[in-house]
Amino acid sequence: MSQGENLGPRVIVALDYPDAESAWQLVRRLEPGQCRLKVGKELFTSAGPQFIGALAEQGFEVFLDLKFHDIPTTVARACRAAAGLGVWMLNVHALGGERMLIAAREALQQDSKPPLLVAVTILTSMDESDLHAVGLSGTAQDNVIRLATLAHRCGLDGVVCSSRETAQLRARFGAGFRLVTPGIRPSGSQVDDQRRVMTPVDAIGNGSSYLVIGRPVTQADDPPGVLRTINSELAAFNQPHAPL
Ligand code: C5P
Repeated sequence: MSQGENLGPRVIVALDYPDAESAWQLVRRLEPGQCRLKVGKELFTSAGPQFIGALAEQGFEVFLDLKFHDIPTTVARACRAAAGLGVWMLNVHALGGERMLIAAREALQQDSKPPLLVAVTILTSMDESDLHAVGLSGTAQDNVIRLATLAHRCGLDGVVCSSRETAQLRARFGAGFRLVTPGIRPSGSQVDDQRRVMTPVDAIGNGSSYLVIGRPVTQADDPPGVLRTINSELAAFNQPHAPL
């Protein structure tokens, strides 16, 4: 990605549903020009690869959020399988290490139109005592920076990061590195169980490339209306790192 490149819809709607039918009830109301869709472990395990194909047939770009973490060969093969489903973005754990990250990237390079490959650094559910218990010293922030640096060095396209970290990561890695940010709440919406939230405009202003938004869209009375409002707020806003 170079500065000025059109990133397309910035919102990735998290399809946090137990099965395909519940997810379709929302997806039928959305349009591919408004958003991408994130399919995670619960929905993928229940609805299967054919559901991903069906979303793609409807013209949606899919972020397959399975956070692969295994030996390099296994992760490389899983990435190839995901690319075969035609997903737009997929992710791996940076804690899988350099050889795993490079294997994942190289596996995707064989594709004619490879999906974006991003890394999860430290799960935001882990606090410092959790990190120390698994042998990671330093603050969560230190670990995020170290693992994002590793992902960048291994040639990954970006990282998933909290809105607390976007400004620092954007400054460090420049315009080309994708920052995918959950914990987004349009102004006036419920915070739910997120601890730190940011509005779409503030998150993009801090350098986020894509916003993962779940409940403010999935539980709204008018999900397309919520997306229209977010997209028009973002369209009215321009900032230097990741222009619309
Ligand atoms: O409903 P909500 O907008 O909070 O959903 C956010 C989505 O982003 C969920 O799918 C959640 O699992 C995911 N996520 C997150 N925080 C992280 C990583 C992923 O909320 N640190």
